[in-house]
Amino acid sequence: MFAVWLFIGLSFIFGASGQSGNICVSDPVTNLTLVNETIDWTIPTNCNVSFYVVNIISEDGIVYHYETENNTFDASFLPLCVEYEIRITPVSLYNVQGTSNSINGQILPGPNENFTVSAFNIISTGRTNITLEWKMPDGVERCVDLFRVVVWDDDGNNPYDVYVAENYFNLTDAVPCMQYEFGIRPIYRPEEDEPLSLFNYTSPGATTTPPVLAGIVEGITSINMTWILEPFAENRCPITAINIDASPNFNVSHPVQDDRNRLPVAFELLNLQPNTVYVSRVAVVNSNGLSEAVLLPLQTLPNSTTLN
Ligand SMILES: *[C@@H]1O[C@H](CO)[C@@H](O)[C@H](O)[C@H]1NC(C)=O
Ligand SMILES: *[C@@H]1O[C@H](CO)[C@@H](O)[C@H](O)[C@H]1NC(C)=O
Ligand SMILES: *[C@@H]1O[C@H](CO)[C@@H](O)[C@H](O)[C@H]1NC(C)=O
Ligand SMILES: *[C@@H]1O[C@H](CO)[C@@H](O)[C@H](O)[C@H]1NC(C)=O
Ligand SMILES: *[C@@H]1O[C@H](CO)[C@@H](O)[C@H](O)[C@H]1NC(C)=O
Ligand SMILES: *[C@@H]1O[C@H](CO)[C@@H](O)[C@H](O)[C@H]1NC(C)=O
Ligand SMILES: *[C@@H]1O[C@H](CO)[C@@H](O)[C@H](O)[C@H]1NC(C)=O
Ligand SMILES: *[C@@H]1O[C@H](CO)[C@@H](O)[C@H](O)[C@H]1NC(C)=O
Ligand SMILES: *[C@@H]1O[C@H](CO)[C@@H](O)[C@H](O)[C@H]1NC(C)=O
Ligand SMILES: *[C@@H]1O[C@H](CO)[C@@H](O)[C@H](O)[C@H]1NC(C)=O
Ligand SMILES: *[C@@H]1O[C@H](CO)[C@@H](O)[C@H](O)[C@H]1NC(C)=O
Repeated sequence: MFAVWLFIGLSFIFGASGQSGNICVSDPVTNLTLVNETIDWTIPTNCNVSFYVVNIISEDGIVYHYETENNTFDASFLPLCVEYEIRITPVSLYNVQGTSNSINGQILPGPNENFTVSAFNIISTGRTNITLEWKMPDGVERCVDLFRVVVWDDDGNNPYDVYVAENYFNLTDAVPCMQYEFGIRPIYRPEEDEPLSLFNYTSPGATTTPPVLAGIVEGITSINMTWILEPFAENRCPITAINIDASPNFNVSHPVQDDRNRLPVAFELLNLQPNTVYVSRVAVVNSNGLSEAVLLPLQTLPNSTTLN
């Protein structure tokens, strides 16, 4: 051992064993590239390099450290679309580190990478607010920073065609019981369309707003009433009846044939007592249940009244 060290020491001092024994500080590698998944460089010529130190560095510091005698390096293990500094340091005889050279680069997805979004999830956060969430396939989440969101409703209208940066979309004017079709397209390569993923969803039901009295004609033993209902455009849940609850005197339900026009509903309450006040609560029944009630005191006319 001593002899070897002595020999090396002497070599330094006298250059006794020729070029290969000399301390040699390598020039930096040149032509350093990252193409597809391979890091490549040209070997320096001023020294015989023993090996190269490959450091792969992110914002968090060195994430990968490797030593290789080769001048290519397979970086396919790195996650896609993350920017790294790639630093190559040649090391020559006696572990003498040469000058480093660096490039910044990232591994990009290949042409067959799957960008199909999936795993749709809906969160309902209020009568008219829903949030649609989706997922990117593993590995490519970081490659996409915009999604195109297109929304169609039951009528084939297209209320939204927007770009969002996160993997969710908030619909804040959802119509109860409306069927929506969502289309999500990740934007990665502007020159070609990534797949459009479609998702159908019917927004949660809701009771209607209370009915609005549009007209009333009070008779001796009957009363005619006309009610305006919440417009179809604002609540698609089908309406089945209007309830007139004048308990304990009567509690009746007037059936409603609902359609998209949702015209005012007129009906006649019969068999009432003359000159009587009926405190009634009028509410709308739809697929989601009973709306809030309107309080309405009804008063029939005295028997002696002459109707014209
Ligand atoms: C870079 O590579 C090219 C082709 O491989 C070669 O012609 C050129 O000399 C190299 N440049 C340096 C500085 O090594
Ligand atoms: C990189 O990948 C593309 C697409 O797969 C291919 O066309 C190209 O030849 C590759 N380049 C190199 C240097 O391997
Ligand atoms: C590299 O090593 C070879 C053989 O050991 C030697 O002939 C050559 O001069 C060395 N080159 C340099 C640049 O040290
Ligand atoms: C150096 O890289 C080439 C090309 O990737 C490969 O064929 C060869 O086996 C590697 N040599 C060593 C010693 O790793
Ligand atoms: C792409 O990913 C989606 C969702 O993960 C999957 O349903 C589909 O089969 C994949 N397509 C290909 C071509 O692998
Ligand atoms: C619904 O969204 C609107 C608009 O973003 C917001 O003002 C409202 O507070 C939300 N309501 C609920 C119940 O989350
Ligand atoms: C979307 O709704 C979620 C709740 O579902 C909320 O946390 C988020 O802040 C909303 N985002 C926007 C941009 O309104
Ligand atoms: C959504 O519903 C429409 C109409 O019912 C239908 O044509 C379409 O195929 C559905 N889409 C999906 C993704 O199920
Ligand atoms: C209520 O309407 C019916 C039918 O239109 C009518 O015959 C009746 O006289 C009306 N009753 C009152 C109190 O106006
Ligand atoms: C009147 O009828 C409606 C519907 O059948 C019912 O929900 C309500 O409880 C009734 N009112 C009373 C006081 O019983
Ligand atoms: C109204 O008066 C007539 C005659 O006075 C009587 O025959 C009738 O029974 C009365 N009707 C009611 C509902 O009281």
